Amino acid sequence: MGIPAVLKVRRSRSYRHPDLDRRLVKQRLTVESKVISKLSALGFPCPSILLIDQNNSSILISRIRGSPLHDILKKGKAGIPELRKLGHLIRRLHNLGISHGDLTTHNVMLSEEGDMHLIDFGLSRQSPELEHLGLDIQVLNECLGASHSTIPDAIETVSEAYLEEESEKARSVIDRFRKITGRVRYHG
Ligand SMILES: Nc1ncnc2c1ncn2[C@@H]1O[C@H](COP(=O)(O)OP(=O)(O)OP(=O)(O)O)[C@@H](O)[C@H]1O
Ligand SMILES: [Mg+2]
Repeated sequence: MGIPAVLKVRRSRSYRHPDLDRRLVKQRLTVESKVISKLSALGFPCPSILLIDQNNSSILISRIRGSPLHDILKKGKAGIPELRKLGHLIRRLHNLGISHGDLTTHNVMLSEEGDMHLIDFGLSRQSPELEHLGLDIQVLNECLGASHSTIPDAIETVSEAYLEEESEKARSVIDRFRKITGRVRYHG
C-alpha cells in the first residue's frame, strides 16, 4: 500500500495459564484495534489500522515517524513544552471517553516536527471510570519519577496543562489522581 508500517505481534507468555494467555492476547488485540480505529477516525494523533490478523495475534499499523518521548527526554532534547503538549493530548483522549491504561513515555511518539502521537492501546478502555482516568496520570507520574526525575515539576506541568481548559470533569480527574498518589504513598 506504500505506507510505512509496523507489525505488532502479541506473543504468548509462558508464565500464564494457556487459557488465560489466549484470552488476554485476544482481548488486548481486539481492544487495541477497536480503540485505534475509533481514535484515528476522529482525527486523534495515533497510528491507523491497516490489517488485523486474529489467527496470528497481530495487527499491522501505520508507522509514526519519530522517537519515543522517553528517548528524547533522556537526551535532554525535550522538556517542559513537550510535557505540556502531553497534558493537552491526554485531556483530549479522556474527552473522547477513552483511558489509555499504560501511559508511559515509551508509549508517546514525537516526530522531528514536534507532532505528538499516542501508541499502544492494548490496555485502554472505552467508557472508563474516573479511577481509570486518574490512573493514567498516576502511571505517567510513576514513569516520570522513575525515568525522568531530573525534570523539575514534571507531573505538575502535565496536570496544569490537563486542567488548562477548565471543566469540572478535568478537575475531578486530577483530584482522583492526587487521591491515588496519596493511597500509593500510604500503602507503599
Ligand atoms: N506505530 C508505530 N510507529 C512507530 N513506532 C512504533 C509504533 N508502534 C510501536 N512502535 C515502537 O515499538 C515499541 C513497542 O510498541 P508498543 O508500545 O505498541 O508495544 P508493547 O509496549 O510491547 O506492547 P504491550 O505493552 O501492549 O505488550 C514502542 O515503544 C515504539 O518504540
Ligand atoms: Mg508500549
